[in-house]
Amino acid sequence: MKDVLCIYYSRSGKTRQAMEDIAGALDAELVEITDGQDRSGWKGYLRSGMEAMRTSTRPLQPFETQRPLEEYRLVIVGTPVWAGRCSSVIRALLKRRGLELPETAYVLTRGCQRRYEEIYEQMDGYIAKPHALACSLRVDDVGYEFWRDKFLQAVRALLDQ
Ligand SMILES: Cc1cc2nc3c(=O)[nH]c(=O)nc-3n(C[C@H](O)[C@H](O)[C@H](O)COP(=O)(O)O)c2cc1C
Repeated sequence: MKDVLCIYYSRSGKTRQAMEDIAGALDAELVEITDGQDRSGWKGYLRSGMEAMRTSTRPLQPFETQRPLEEYRLVIVGTPVWAGRCSSVIRALLKRRGLELPETAYVLTRGCQRRYEEIYEQMDGYIAKPHALACSLRVDDVGYEFWRDKFLQAVRALLDQ
C-alpha cells in the first residue's frame, strides 16, 4: 500500500498532468476529485471564478483512497489557481476533510507569471498543521520541469527524514 497520496482537481487537464508526473515519480497513489459540476465553456469558467472569489463550495462526489487520509505519510494536494485563490473544488475538500490531513504539500498550477504563493497560507487555514512543502507551476512553461523536479527533490528529502 502506498504511503503518499496525490489528490487533485483539474478542470482542463493541466493540474492532472502535473499530478500524474509527480505521482509517477514518487510511486504515489493518485486520486482525482470533483464536485460533479459542469465547468466547461465560458459559463463554467465564470461560475468557477465566482465561486473562487466568494470562497463558496459545493459537496464533493464520493471518492476512495486506499487508506484513511490521516494514515498517509504525506498528502500532496493539487489545484488550479482560480481568481487568485485555490479552486472551489479543492477548497471543498479542505473544508470538509482538511483536519484529517497529516503532513501536507501543495501543488498549484496557474496561467500567469505570478506565483500566487499567498494561496498556500489561505489553504493552511483549513488544515491542522501548516503545509510542509509547496510549488507553483505553469505546466506549459519552459520552467515547468525544473520547478516540478525541484519540488520532487524536496519531497524525497522530506520522506528520507
Ligand atoms: C475560473 C478560472 C480562473 C483562473 N484564474 C487564474 C488566476 O487568477 N491566475 C492565473 O495565473 N491563472 C488563472 N487561471 C488559469 C488556471 O489556473 C491554469 O490554466 C491552470 O493550470 C488550469 O488547471 P487545470 O487545467 O487543471 O484546470 C484561471 C482559470 C480558470 C478556469
